[in-house]
Amino acid sequence: MNGNMIVKNASELVTCSGSAAKRGAEMADLKIITDGAVIMREGKITDVGKTDVLQSRFDESKEDLDNFDIIDATGRAVLPGFVDSHTHLVFGGYRAEEFAWRLRGDSYMEIMQRGGGILSTVAATRSATAEELIALGLGRLNSMLSMGVTTVEAKSGYGLDRETEIKQLEVAKELDNIHYLDIVSTFLGAHAVPQEYKGREDAFVDLIIEDVLPEVAERRLAEFCDIFCEKNVFSLEQSRRLLLKAQQAGLKSKLHADEIVALGGAELAAELGAVSADHLLQASDSGIRQMAQAGVVATLLPATAFSLKEPYARGRFMIDNGCAVALASDFNPGSCFTESIPLVSALAALYMALTPEEIITALTINAAAALDRAAVIGSIDQGKQADLVILEFPSYRFIPYHLAVSSVEMVIKSGNLVFDRQNGGIVYC
Ligand code: NIG
Ligand code: FE
Repeated sequence: MNGNMIVKNASELVTCSGSAAKRGAEMADLKIITDGAVIMREGKITDVGKTDVLQSRFDESKEDLDNFDIIDATGRAVLPGFVDSHTHLVFGGYRAEEFAWRLRGDSYMEIMQRGGGILSTVAATRSATAEELIALGLGRLNSMLSMGVTTVEAKSGYGLDRETEIKQLEVAKELDNIHYLDIVSTFLGAHAVPQEYKGREDAFVDLIIEDVLPEVAERRLAEFCDIFCEKNVFSLEQSRRLLLKAQQAGLKSKLHADEIVALGGAELAAELGAVSADHLLQASDSGIRQMAQAGVVATLLPATAFSLKEPYARGRFMIDNGCAVALASDFNPGSCFTESIPLVSALAALYMALTPEEIITALTINAAAALDRAAVIGSIDQGKQADLVILEFPSYRFIPYHLAVSSVEMVIKSGNLVFDRQNGGIVYC
């Protein structure tokens, strides 16, 4: 496992080339090289091009081929590794009973208001040990990897107290150390109002700002700060107050915005220069235009709308109005218990009217941009981290078309083969 690898003869090398989010019509251009090849050295992409061109360049270099693993991708499409830029990866307990209540007609917010929902996961996460959370996290990461995810965002937010929020972020850091996937951490201390602060929301925001944020920032436990900006959860004013303090402490902004009610979260994201605003089911026309103007990535989570039976975010309208759209799973134990990139892709095609090309852009370079990482991952470009997926099919078009089933055959992480479906799945070193 030296990070040296050659992938050649790809029917489509879908490069998604670029180092920033693609906005509007730019999302349709995947910059495909037919009969493509990629050379990776020490975990980085060093050459990208037609197989015959790279072959002769390699021959001239007189390098020893024995130092490289070689994959012949004949009849297969090769893409950048997928980036799942919105997940609640680390949590204890599950909420299968809540899913049944929702089938019976109870709404997500009603369940939350009577002390269930997020708060029931808070209780389970507070009582779980770090070791238990790590074991759960590893299983989830393996599943994500099998679907082609090579970088994942992980939010805290099931502690709502200092000790447990820090525990969640420490667990994410440890998972980043021990698993192939890269993990980008987000501090979501303001995910819900805990029982002990009911009716004293401002005091809880003060606690997050004064008691938890300083330690998160000082120990660099998170790169982003997020908040559930929603009617009956945290107001626009509380969200602005927390996110500005977090920015001063060095944490970039994300928001759970306009998910259930059109509160003005999209507008706030634009005002604050957030890196992304997520959900956006109810975002207003003007909020969407302001996000496009401000360069805020619109991260859409169609599996959540599906699971909650809510209307889908207006992905088509957003792209047509110049937004950069990313797609993510929102993996969590309540509103959306799935890590399925194939399901997300199919829903985006069928219910958000995104084209297959836009879906691929939204899962790669734009998702990388949603994590402020578009300069290092999200495309197959020279100098970037060598994170690639190889499909069992000849075209990227199979991703949304192969409904809710993964088309990923192999995953390459930092120039090493880490998942190979034909040979039993995850490759352990
Ligand atoms: O993104 N909406 C708020 N937070 C999560 C759900 C978390 C949960 O239900 O546990 C979301 O949907
Ligand atoms: Fe979420």
